[in-house]
Amino acid sequence: MSMPTSHSFASLTCGIDSAAKKDVPTTIVVFGASGDLAKKKTFPALFHLFDQNLLPKRTRIIGYARTDMSVEEFHKRATSHFSPQADKDTVKKFLSVCEYVSGKYDVDEDFVNLRKEIDRLEEGACIGSSCERIHVYYMALPPSVFVDVATHIKKNVYDESCTNRVVIEKPFGHDLESSRQLSKDIGGLFEETEVFRIDHYLGKEMVKNIMTLRFANVFYEAVWNRHYISNVQITFKEPFGTEGRGGYFDQFGIIRDVMQNHLLQVLSIVAMNQPQSLNAEDIRDSKTEVLRRILPIQLEDTMLGQYVGTSDGSKPGYKDDDTVPKDSNTPTFAECVMHVDNDRWRGVPWVIKAGKALNEARMLIRIQFKDMPNSLFPNLARNELVIQVSPKESVYIKTIVKEPGLSTNLAMSELDLTYKTRYHDIKIPDAYATLILDVLNGDHSNFVRSDELDEAWRIFTPLLHQIETENIMPLPYEYGSRGPQGVYDFVEDRTGYKRTNLEYHWEAPQ
Ligand code: BG6
Repeated sequence: MSMPTSHSFASLTCGIDSAAKKDVPTTIVVFGASGDLAKKKTFPALFHLFDQNLLPKRTRIIGYARTDMSVEEFHKRATSHFSPQADKDTVKKFLSVCEYVSGKYDVDEDFVNLRKEIDRLEEGACIGSSCERIHVYYMALPPSVFVDVATHIKKNVYDESCTNRVVIEKPFGHDLESSRQLSKDIGGLFEETEVFRIDHYLGKEMVKNIMTLRFANVFYEAVWNRHYISNVQITFKEPFGTEGRGGYFDQFGIIRDVMQNHLLQVLSIVAMNQPQSLNAEDIRDSKTEVLRRILPIQLEDTMLGQYVGTSDGSKPGYKDDDTVPKDSNTPTFAECVMHVDNDRWRGVPWVIKAGKALNEARMLIRIQFKDMPNSLFPNLARNELVIQVSPKESVYIKTIVKEPGLSTNLAMSELDLTYKTRYHDIKIPDAYATLILDVLNGDHSNFVRSDELDEAWRIFTPLLHQIETENIMPLPYEYGSRGPQGVYDFVEDRTGYKRTNLEYHWEAPQ
């Protein structure tokens, strides 16, 4: 099987080239280095890049956290989520560039210490008159300390002679007002060009693939509009509840946790017009432009759910968690019908659906086409293009064929591009590795700009406030089910979505 030609496509291939070739001395400080996010995502991603030779040669990594621990203890924690198959020598080499500084998040002196450590590690980094260096400040931190840390970086650590990049993780506020305040605070300290707001969905292979599919293939773009598309559904399902993090989750709920960020980001890429170029600002302009055309979501276009324990008692309900208030109305499931009010999409309903403790793990984009006009065949099912983001990355088009053999009946089949069978030897990198590489390359394409963020909150804030002030109660659904009763009717009634006959079921090839 021949491999497709690879084009030098800005943030795809030349991104990797430039990181590998440009050996600018680089220091990456990971704040919150002893926390869960750093252990599970940031350090494994940094190791992956190190292992693949994609970090600039003179890279130094500093973990910073409040915990007082030795560098050996830090190394143990930083590697606690590495794959058991990781090569021991490579891990050793990686750890030889990882230091640890312990300090508080609001004490000048501790940040001055950090600066001294950076200076020590950078000794001899300037060669002749060239003193180009990159400092990345990665905040794997809870939002309550973002601004404190950013303020102290700026005051005590920031070096104007370097390229400085600040990486922050969601949540970026909890509504429009708090998000604007956060943007103002961060914006008062750093230029927008220095800020990288991570939405890890933008680093996922199939999400990065949407632009290529749409703008590199004539047949997709030709039908990508209200004349051919009936409705679009973007679905996120997780088969586990909030066990262990219920108290934390209760402050946010599924809309803030997944929809306002991950699903809306995906929607904006599926819906946007072709950007002027592959430049990050042109891409983000196109995404923002489409978000501007979305009206705030109405409560009557929303179904809210909260999971309850299974009848046999084997799985707990959301409120069985001691850290969740017994009267909590926080949704763990939500489904919203949205409209993009522009020429391309007027009249096409967009459904975003997300839920915890459902029947399966799945994230997908389902584009359902309209009925065939003047068809020779009666009662045709509709074509659908499905992009499965996870698990088992795939793209398939539900396509009607003649039933093979002597029969003249029609059958639903599919044109199937399942990555695992098409690209045997390619290991798809974790989203975090892709995004950290983008940060090192200074490529903002897959990061959220402040005006995009503002639009995302504008769309959801009235609904979120209404749920809170009117104490709207979500519908119960059983742990492991498909969601609250009536979940399918809700979509079919509002979007005209037509279900393919129930015998048809696509399964990724093994
Ligand atoms: C996070 C949410 O942003 O995304 C989690 O806070 C969710 O609740 C996670 O589980 C899903 O990410 P992924 O990459 O596992 O699909």
